[in-house]
Amino acid sequence: MMPTDWRPPTLETNRLVIRAFGEADAEPLFAHASNPNITRYTLWEYHKTIADTLNFVRDYAHCRYIEGVPEPYAVVLKADPAQKPIGAVGCFWASQPNRTMELGYWLAEPFWGRGLIVEACQEVVRYSFTMCGPERMQARVIAGNTASVRVLEKLGFRLEGTLRSSLYRRGIFEDVMCFSVLRGEYERC
Ligand SMILES: CC(C)(COP(=O)(O)OP(=O)(O)OC[C@H]1O[C@@H](n2cnc3c(N)ncnc32)[C@H](O)[C@@H]1OP(=O)(O)O)[C@@H](O)C(=O)NCCC(=O)NCCS
Repeated sequence: MMPTDWRPPTLETNRLVIRAFGEADAEPLFAHASNPNITRYTLWEYHKTIADTLNFVRDYAHCRYIEGVPEPYAVVLKADPAQKPIGAVGCFWASQPNRTMELGYWLAEPFWGRGLIVEACQEVVRYSFTMCGPERMQARVIAGNTASVRVLEKLGFRLEGTLRSSLYRRGIFEDVMCFSVLRGEYERC
């Protein structure tokens, strides 16, 4: 356990600031997290009220930060003077005894197609390998999410296989594609 006030450190890329969430992010994030197009292929449901977003940026984030993991991180455009979050990215323990972390991400729809999430993930995965010490970083994609598959390919993840009908979500059995990159492979990227 980390000190209860631990926050993941702010990271920077060419176009982005990647920082911890705070309560003030609830309102601007709700504008994007309430869009059903975002959650078409996610395990989480789009936010119905600001209380859902507040729960994410305050309660969920607090629970992860005291574990000492960089999840969730707010993605912010450097060029935005208001520094509002336009998405979230993070790595959390899928299995700590087996030193396996998992990457998750989403970006607000108006910002799709500019390579921003790849830029954010590259930095967060690098930070996570260095600071948390996993051997394996995995990612799971619901079949059909072509944009997400492309993101993982660009990050150097490898498709390991598809768990057919392994997820019962919203009344349908979904195929889940499993990706990973190992520590040694990422260091060579
Ligand atoms: C997945 C997501 C983060 C990708 O964001 P993005 O800004 O579009 O990502 P990028 O611009 O880096 O790249 C997307 C790639 O997918 C491709 N792509 C996008 N939509 C596509 C589609 N419908 N069919 C085929 N390819 C598609 C783009 O052409 C691009 O590939 P390229 O660089 O080879 O041209 C974004 O779509 C999103 O937030 N989706 C909702 C949340 C989600 O599904 N998260 C992932 C859960 S596993």
